[in-house]
Amino acid sequence: MQSSKQSTNSFSSSLGAIMAAVGSAVGLGNIWRFPYICGKYGGGAFLLVYICFVFGIGMMLMMSEFVIGRRSRHTPVKAFESLSPKHKGWRYVGVLGLITCFFILAQYLVISGWTLSYFFDAITGRMATMGQDSVVLKEYFTAFSTSALRPVVFLSVFAVLTAIVILGGVQKGIEAVSKVLMPVLVVLLVLLCVRSLTLPGASKGLEYLFSPDFSKLTAEGVLAAMGQAMFSLSVGMGVMIVYGSYIPVSDNLFRTSMWITASDTFIAILAGVAIFPAVFSCGMEPTSGPGLSFCVLPSVFNSMGGVMGTIFASMFFLLLGIAALTSAISLLEALSAWLLETLRTHRWTATLIVIVAEIALAVVVSLSNGVWSDFHITDITFFDFVDRLNSIYLPPLGALGTVLFLGWVLPSDELHDELSNQGTLRAVYYPAVRFIIRWVAPLALLVVFVSSLL
Ligand code: PHE
Repeated sequence: MQSSKQSTNSFSSSLGAIMAAVGSAVGLGNIWRFPYICGKYGGGAFLLVYICFVFGIGMMLMMSEFVIGRRSRHTPVKAFESLSPKHKGWRYVGVLGLITCFFILAQYLVISGWTLSYFFDAITGRMATMGQDSVVLKEYFTAFSTSALRPVVFLSVFAVLTAIVILGGVQKGIEAVSKVLMPVLVVLLVLLCVRSLTLPGASKGLEYLFSPDFSKLTAEGVLAAMGQAMFSLSVGMGVMIVYGSYIPVSDNLFRTSMWITASDTFIAILAGVAIFPAVFSCGMEPTSGPGLSFCVLPSVFNSMGGVMGTIFASMFFLLLGIAALTSAISLLEALSAWLLETLRTHRWTATLIVIVAEIALAVVVSLSNGVWSDFHITDITFFDFVDRLNSIYLPPLGALGTVLFLGWVLPSDELHDELSNQGTLRAVYYPAVRFIIRWVAPLALLVVFVSSLL
């Protein structure tokens, strides 16, 4: 039975699995968040800590999710249930993961909608008419993002695009799209890097990004590195459990996780190289999130003038859109696959239900920037509330549940079986991996979670 399930619900190859998971990992977090926090918390010094976390803990979390997914061949809730039939309570780690996916996808759709709208502004030349004045660009962004109709239209279009890919299925949808879009993303990024590095004064941006300044590496910076490592690798919410359930049995999970982690980190660094030299060369200030992508960068592109500005602006927003799309695909797949398994229905029914519910939540998130901005939860807007849930509270909790389960509940020979492919691989790293999963990762996650509460 397992083999028939695998043939329809499985990536066709190791490369396909890697491309899809890299697609999930490389997202808005790499392009608009990583470069900024890297510069803010000490450049090279932060990078060093980040690399330790990303390979030492993030990659282990990813591998843990792959093990749970591939071992069970189920979506999160059933995966935990089936691997620990005597302790059904662990299924709530899966439930928590799905809730996290639901919130992250809503926020992702809103920002992806902005990206799509800016891509149209760029390619039609409208952005070029706005000039370089960052005050004007900021006013435009505020007016746009707080308006009711346009963001909702674009987020809905983006949601439909995501759903279409999911309807294609695991191989013909997710895998095929990732195999095309990820190389396109890298080419666009490299072209933007070349342009950025050849601008006058580019070296200042590289200095900001890379020169190590240990005095800026505060405890807050270390926590930020850990949070960013998890968000960037899409771990802590069960997405990689779902993708793990599609990974072929012959795949070496350690190697696959390493490739994904390395690619994700490399692309985050490339994004910094594409963005900061250009920002500094225009004498602008680095900032994070919406401010960087939707206010500062348009001004940088417009300062390039004419056709060049239009081309590079379009390339950048296309890049951001692609990164967001492949991440949104993984989130929607996690939710649809769960519903598909629970209701035993058609893929399109499950996807339709999820996407309609998701658009509804995303519309509320979007409107909470504007017409509903008076509606507050614990003193903050709904948008900020969702942002906090997604970045601070939910993922570390889900990740903690996952490593505790794998380290302390699942029999150790099952972990060994998955890492060594039933003893056919040597898996010399097994003792170290198990130690990290049992001790290091839970402690690190606990520290992150408690300190974020404080
Ligand atoms: N990894 C994505 C990013 O860097 C975010 C994401 C989180 C995607 C969780 C899917 C699941 O932006």
